[in-house]
Amino acid sequence: MIKKFIIGNPIETDSVVKEITATPGNIPYFVSNAGEKSLRLSMTPKDKVYGLGETVRGINKRGFKYTSNCTDDHVHSEDKSSLYGAQNFFVYWGSDKKFGMYVDTPGKVSFDIGDKEINTFEIDFEDFDANIYVIEGDSVLDIVRQFRGIIGKSYIPPKWAFGFGQSRWGYMNEQDVRDVVDNYDELDMPLEAVYLDIDYMESYKDFTVNKERFPDFEGFVNEMKGRGIHLVPIIDAGVKIEEGYDVYEEGVKEGYFVKKESGDNLVAAVWPGRVHFPDFLNEKARNWFGNKYKFLLDQGIDGFWNDMNEPAIFYTEDHLKEVFEKIKDFEGQNLDVLSFFEFQGLVAGLSNNEDDYKRFYHEYKGQKVRHDKVHNIYGYNMTRAAGEAFERLCPDKKILMFSRASYIGMHRYGGVWTGDNQTWWSHLLMNIQQMPGLNMCGFLYCGADTGGFWGDTTEDLLMRWTQFSIFTPLFRNHSLKDTRNQEYYRFTNKQDFRNMLRLRYALIPYLYDQFIKAAESDDMLFKPLCFEYPEDEMAYEVEDQLFVGDSIMVAPVYKQNATGRYVYLPQDMKLVRFRSDTDYDEEVLEKGNHYVKAKLNEVLVFVREGKKLPLAEPANRTGDINENSIKYITGPHCN
Ligand code: GLC
Repeated sequence: MIKKFIIGNPIETDSVVKEITATPGNIPYFVSNAGEKSLRLSMTPKDKVYGLGETVRGINKRGFKYTSNCTDDHVHSEDKSSLYGAQNFFVYWGSDKKFGMYVDTPGKVSFDIGDKEINTFEIDFEDFDANIYVIEGDSVLDIVRQFRGIIGKSYIPPKWAFGFGQSRWGYMNEQDVRDVVDNYDELDMPLEAVYLDIDYMESYKDFTVNKERFPDFEGFVNEMKGRGIHLVPIIDAGVKIEEGYDVYEEGVKEGYFVKKESGDNLVAAVWPGRVHFPDFLNEKARNWFGNKYKFLLDQGIDGFWNDMNEPAIFYTEDHLKEVFEKIKDFEGQNLDVLSFFEFQGLVAGLSNNEDDYKRFYHEYKGQKVRHDKVHNIYGYNMTRAAGEAFERLCPDKKILMFSRASYIGMHRYGGVWTGDNQTWWSHLLMNIQQMPGLNMCGFLYCGADTGGFWGDTTEDLLMRWTQFSIFTPLFRNHSLKDTRNQEYYRFTNKQDFRNMLRLRYALIPYLYDQFIKAAESDDMLFKPLCFEYPEDEMAYEVEDQLFVGDSIMVAPVYKQNATGRYVYLPQDMKLVRFRSDTDYDEEVLEKGNHYVKAKLNEVLVFVREGKKLPLAEPANRTGDINENSIKYITGPHCN
């Protein structure tokens, strides 16, 4: 059962697609305090909270404060309250209170779940305006499914998007891309896509291609297509200010960029230096920007990633001027502890500055709205611009689309990747733990930068990460410019990597099928154990194992130098220790705790009681997988 409550004057986000009449009266479970702009609830120590999408820390969100405020911050350490997404749905699973809640507000909102006071859950609003949906149900999963039922069906990518994608910020030209494909092909390793980061563009201008680096782009796209490879270019939110650049000129002429109070277009800076930001919240601007994808679609491109759409801001022109002015005051001074830090902070504070988000306005549903009030739906609407355009421009074709910033509602138009993680073992664990929260909020097509984006990866970290990523719908190896090259063919144990990639392709029929099922029935692909075994006390303790679809559980190894791990089985299961799609050993293990060995080249999969895991004969491209080749590994008590 779902009830809607209204606080104040909420700004509509179009995230809920089902008409629900608001119930008058107080929001249940919480005590509302309009003066403090907060909702407060007392928790008992055993109560649990799940959801909130892509956030730091574990699966049970208790013990920290999470702030929905889409942020470009690449240090996802456990003290960070905000990452790129804002996904305000959670399930409260307590001894006497059991409910789900979606806090639909496009501005900043914090979920303090026992941070300030260990047994208090407080939702703090910047503006006390929100549509609140309270959902009651028989189980966490029942509540999730009901919630998903009101926000519309999740985005379904083309099947090839389940293939493996190689990416790196630093592929400069077509030869760099060709080399990647050649290397994979020479080693007979699967590969489906190569991602084009910002260097494919001309001076970082959206919807342009650098002619020196890609002299015949369409021809190159076709050459790659001929080899079964999709090229996936990046699109950034900022549009370069440059006379003669059509996107800039049209946007200015039509008034499609965000404006300052004065009515002038905001000047900010990102990769190309000075940019304007399209007003994706304005329907006309959204349609206009969406149509721009045609430039690349027409050249055979069928996948994109939308980036820097929080929006990330290096600086705004106005703020930069202020800083230059202030810096003069420090010249010739004895900079002591306070003045030195103030001086240093002036430049450091230029990027993604909260005050800058108050300097500009949107034209949203006929109203002028200051950006910070709708900050969290900016990236969502950029991806919506693309998704709506694809429906208009190529209704019969599925286009790959995923974004960095997100808000619930965007799940109908694309997936997400979890942004600029690090080459840390803890980020492999975080990747595992983020998946269920994202699925709860409707984001099924998701994954992380395998191997880690910032920093130099190591072969063992990349191997263990790959052993988890072979189960995530988006499986992409991506890294930062000037870090160690991390394409699989660069490492010592190439054959082991090849085996993992081939195993992924053997699993694709299962994964895609389970994905479609989850999308169609508003279900999750990745489930924590306790969602399926709510009566099992132990299942609530497990935060590093997940069910993937109906048939299997994965227990990734995510610790450096580990040669195995403890695993909890909520029922008898068959352990399959894969070294490749054909080389594995099987053993039925009883319900309970086990220590299970897993050498660096071995991945642990558990087939559930009464279930079967289909495995296809792998191919190097999804289109070449022979679905008739499927054989089954059966779980215990399976006929
Ligand atoms: C951002 C993206 C990253 C990309 C880089 C350059 O940091 O998150 O994936 O490589 O920009 O475009």
